[in-house]
Amino acid sequence: MQSNNPTSPCAAPDTILDGSRFLRACLRRPVDRTPVWFLRQAGRYMQEYRDIRKHHTLVEICKQPEIAAEVTITAAEKLGVDAAIIFADLLLPLEPMGLDFEFQAGEGPVVYHPVRTAEDVNKLRTDRAADLAYVAKAIEKVAAHFQHRLGIIGFCGAPFTLASYMIEGGGSKNYIETKKLMYNDPSAWRTLLDKIVKVLEEYCRLQVEAGADVIQIFDSWVGALSLSDYRAYAYQASQRLVHAVQQMGVPVIYFGVETAGLLGDMASTGADVIGLDWRQPLDEGWAAVGHGHAVQGNLDPITLFAPLDVLEQRVHQILRAANGRPGHIFNLGHGIVPGTPVENVQAVVKMVRDFKL
Ligand code: CP3
Repeated sequence: MQSNNPTSPCAAPDTILDGSRFLRACLRRPVDRTPVWFLRQAGRYMQEYRDIRKHHTLVEICKQPEIAAEVTITAAEKLGVDAAIIFADLLLPLEPMGLDFEFQAGEGPVVYHPVRTAEDVNKLRTDRAADLAYVAKAIEKVAAHFQHRLGIIGFCGAPFTLASYMIEGGGSKNYIETKKLMYNDPSAWRTLLDKIVKVLEEYCRLQVEAGADVIQIFDSWVGALSLSDYRAYAYQASQRLVHAVQQMGVPVIYFGVETAGLLGDMASTGADVIGLDWRQPLDEGWAAVGHGHAVQGNLDPITLFAPLDVLEQRVHQILRAANGRPGHIFNLGHGIVPGTPVENVQAVVKMVRDFKL
């Protein structure tokens, strides 16, 4: 199922493409209108999600396919978007690798025994990715529900971003421990990334076999790296993961934040779609990515708190910058934050649907 175009090596079956403007846009095929979905479209800004969170922790929701599927479906239907991203978390693969973690209220994730030395890296297991089958089960349920009416997005963290959580033990401002391991023990760093890629490959395969139409790879914190460090320490592992997933027959969206200086290199991983944050105008970001790739983005998520006329102006600005070129997926530049008015998110969907150049 490989096409000859090296920047878009994936080909989905035409039956699926017919029903999915989202999938068509990932592959830069013409669409009737720009597809739209939102990073973190299921989450605390939505009452239905908060109601479920009263009874279950985040990890409990992820591990119960029935509930994870319900959260995924409810959010997509309530917003009227063109794609549903499976409800899961970036950190889930840490557990089968042997690292316990927890989400502490208001403080974000905490990993209990962070990876700091070559010995810690050697202890990590790569033989239990199958434990993540609960995510695949949730995808099966979402796929059965939507029957190709919406694109279904599976996801995982990128090797660098996942490594940064494993090493820092949580979120970080300066990535000191991560960079110390990179610079002080490049061999342990490489082994760590190899192990992560091995687990993520299998994890993505489970998701694709369960019905994910596309895989998004979140390199959320890669913007912490200089271009030369991206090339030396992160690019190769990302590229291997992108290619492995494309070999499974689905397109890949590769997303990061504060990546203006990295976009050309991120695109050369071969990812079909590059996610753009909001700091750069979309047309400039797309030019940096190269027009042989699709792009996704790039509204500032905090614009969702603005009055509707301001919001509409920003939405139109992005759509005009895309200029009808095939391969634009409307999205935010990063995730929806708690407190965002749901009706404004719905209004954006309508603005994108109604837009005419
Ligand atoms: O609708 C969707 O987008 C799918 C759900 C989703 C979650 N996490 C659920 C979640 C997705 C795609 C993720 C990915 C994820 N997880 C990323 C990459 C996306 C990005 O924003 O760049 C990252 C960095 C994580 C790690 C993580 N998980 C963080 C930093 C936090 C925030 C901690 C906090 O309390 O604010 C989480 C928790 C999390 N994951 C929540 C949700 C809905 C909110 C917390 C909750 O419900 O208790």
